Amino acid sequence: MNPKENATERDTRVMQFYEQLVEIEQRLIPTGLHVFGRASELSEKADLLRMVASFDRPEHGARALPALVAEALGIEGYEALLEDTSATETREFVDGIVSEAVRQFCEEGAQSSVRWLSSRAGVDREKSLPTFLLLEKTAEQLDSNHEIESLMRALRGEYIEPGPGADIVQNPFVLPTGRNTHAINPYSVPSISAFARAKRTADALLERYVSEHGRYPRAMALVLWGLDNIKTQGEGVAQALHLLGVRPTRDALNRATEIEVIALEELQRPRIDVVMTVSGIFRDLFAPTMALLDKAVRRVATLDEPLDMNYVRRNVAEKIEADGSKFDDAVTRVFSNAPGNYGTNVNFMVMQSEWETSDTLGDLFVTRKCFAYSRDSKGRTVEGREARQLMDDVLSRVEATYQNIDSFEVGITDVDHYFEYLGGISKAVEKRAQARPAIYLSDSLSPQTKIRSLAETIRLETRAKTLNPKWYEGMLKHGFRGVAEIENHVANTFGWSATADAVDTWIYTEIVKTFLLDPIMFNRLRELNPHSVQSLARRLLEAHDRGYWNPAEEIMEKLRDALDDLDIQSKREAST
Ligand code: BEZ
Ligand code: MG
Repeated sequence: MNPKENATERDTRVMQFYEQLVEIEQRLIPTGLHVFGRASELSEKADLLRMVASFDRPEHGARALPALVAEALGIEGYEALLEDTSATETREFVDGIVSEAVRQFCEEGAQSSVRWLSSRAGVDREKSLPTFLLLEKTAEQLDSNHEIESLMRALRGEYIEPGPGADIVQNPFVLPTGRNTHAINPYSVPSISAFARAKRTADALLERYVSEHGRYPRAMALVLWGLDNIKTQGEGVAQALHLLGVRPTRDALNRATEIEVIALEELQRPRIDVVMTVSGIFRDLFAPTMALLDKAVRRVATLDEPLDMNYVRRNVAEKIEADGSKFDDAVTRVFSNAPGNYGTNVNFMVMQSEWETSDTLGDLFVTRKCFAYSRDSKGRTVEGREARQLMDDVLSRVEATYQNIDSFEVGITDVDHYFEYLGGISKAVEKRAQARPAIYLSDSLSPQTKIRSLAETIRLETRAKTLNPKWYEGMLKHGFRGVAEIENHVANTFGWSATADAVDTWIYTEIVKTFLLDPIMFNRLRELNPHSVQSLARRLLEAHDRGYWNPAEEIMEKLRDALDDLDIQSKREAST
């Protein structure tokens, strides 16, 4: 290798490293818990408003500020800058102007920012005003809180004004809080903009898989949640449809009940077979959408196309050939809990440490989720028929699993539901396909679509939250509850070891160093909540005992010492 190539490679690596740092730095994280009835103490209000201002909001005539600034400066396409690592300086320049404008807005109001942007970057005042007026309204509503008043009114049986469900960045009009959150009309799902966005995400997902495996996956398993699809107007649903190579169409009542096939010439890739496991909440809220997904798979399975361009048709034909299945069975792809049931229980089993081998976790997932929602040969709806063998069979062909992260507020180590679902299904696939699937997540937390592997997502979440002093100090302001939140994050991280073995060993090492081996921090946590610190220490010991973490013996000794200390303290407290 000549020295010049070396330097180029080094520059590329430095650039990639820099990009990763920026990604962590720009990640919006909660820096404390919401206290019911209290207006947000948003020291990071400017950060939140900057994110609100980063998206076009055609429904309010408001443009995304970064795009407006870039346009006014004669820079073509802000979105393209996001993809282009050689344009980092230009992007930073634009972002710097946007941040300054939002900072000025927080201090001096909309008119001042509009004037400043006009003189600084030549942004037309009329164009930026609607965006700042939107920020003004959002900021005002962030400062007020009617939650306790609404609760009291609800308890008296009075009327509570309805409001949409989403997070503030997705839809600033979820504010003010303290309203009666409503769902959406299931027939409106997926919306036109959700489908457009989902197309980009699904393409990026396939691109990532192909770049790592050299070909398309023969089948994928998707997790669909109800609240996510409310918040995104059905982005997850639209991703499934796009992978199949179809789009929804509307009937005479403007309901998304029909399917239009995207021609292979337009699609320019094979149709991917998708297995959909939907949550109990999704099943309850989106019955017509489940029928739409089932209809889409059936339509694709009957298209007269080459098998190497239509994986649904190929897999259905193979199954019929192999075991004489009926078409209606072979084409079943939508699964959920039995009627009236919710959840996978994988999270409970992991939290209680009551499992021998990790296969048990995947088997439990299938036991809970193997109920088919489809049609029989006479076209009658089948609502939750037990179909364990069918589910085992479709999962045995899956090569990649995927879930869409929809929110700025909740990530994959904040709650145990991501690992119970995406981890649970991945573990189920691993046994049935006899190979660990590629596991991906997408990120609607930035204006550009980003696909990450599970391991990458865990690293990012760990750096941005669990190990980030800004995050844990924010939690510790809440005392007892804050320590419990830290312990929850560690337990949820462990959930990804249990279900997918996707946690780097350095993550556990840094956790133990940060929270248990630093004497000052250890004592702070013990004072606030000895019970949660004890659980955290036990969880780390479990990670070691189950073979997910193998640190230096010296670290294990210190961890055991800390645990002994905590056990003594808890016995002493129990006896007093
Ligand atoms: C849902 O929205 O479907 C959901 C929410 C929490 C946990 C699991 C599913
Ligand atoms: Mg817990």
